[in-house]
Amino acid sequence: MNNNIDHVLITEEEIAAKVKEIAEQINKDYAGKEIICVCILKGAVIFFGNLVKNLNMPLSFDFMVVSSYESGTVSSGQLKIKKDLEQDISGKHVLIIEDILDTGNTLKKLKEELTLRNPASIKLCSLLDKPSRRTADIECDYTGFEIPDEFVVGYGLDFDEKYRHLPYIGVLKPECYTNN
Ligand code: IMP
Ligand code: MG
Repeated sequence: MNNNIDHVLITEEEIAAKVKEIAEQINKDYAGKEIICVCILKGAVIFFGNLVKNLNMPLSFDFMVVSSYESGTVSSGQLKIKKDLEQDISGKHVLIIEDILDTGNTLKKLKEELTLRNPASIKLCSLLDKPSRRTADIECDYTGFEIPDEFVVGYGLDFDEKYRHLPYIGVLKPECYTNN
């Protein structure tokens, strides 16, 4: 295990089993349809790669980099699109794939933005969900694991751009936040 990890919250095996489970549900729900899978970079990249291998409908990939401005106290921050989709999604079924739903601000605004482009449908899939932190009114259509209010890294998720490569989801040692 990485020296800076206090404990593993979700093992590699547990994630692999869950990814297959989510993929089976997506395969059922979209049977006979073609979809565009949108990976939200960078955090979702490992989840995305493993999930799409288990999907069996015709599909294409697209990628976005987004962040939401959280200025001051009250939300109402705007969505900043740092990298936009390359495809026109109008009339298409869009599945947004994210690493974690935390406050929900980013995904709520992203869903609103993409809805303006008139897709046939738009659904959200997130590996992790921290429901206790939610401030925006949004839920995922597909969720891997609900986790407590702890900062986690690995399987794509970072702290200060590090730890994304770890094959499990782990909780950092407290000193790693202060020393870095
Ligand atoms: P929110 O749902 O708009 O609050 O933000 C979600 C984003 O915050 C995610 O895409 C992550 O990049 C980041 N994030 C939230 N919680 C964690 C965590 O526990 N570990 C790593 N990144 C996190
Ligand atoms: Mg992220």
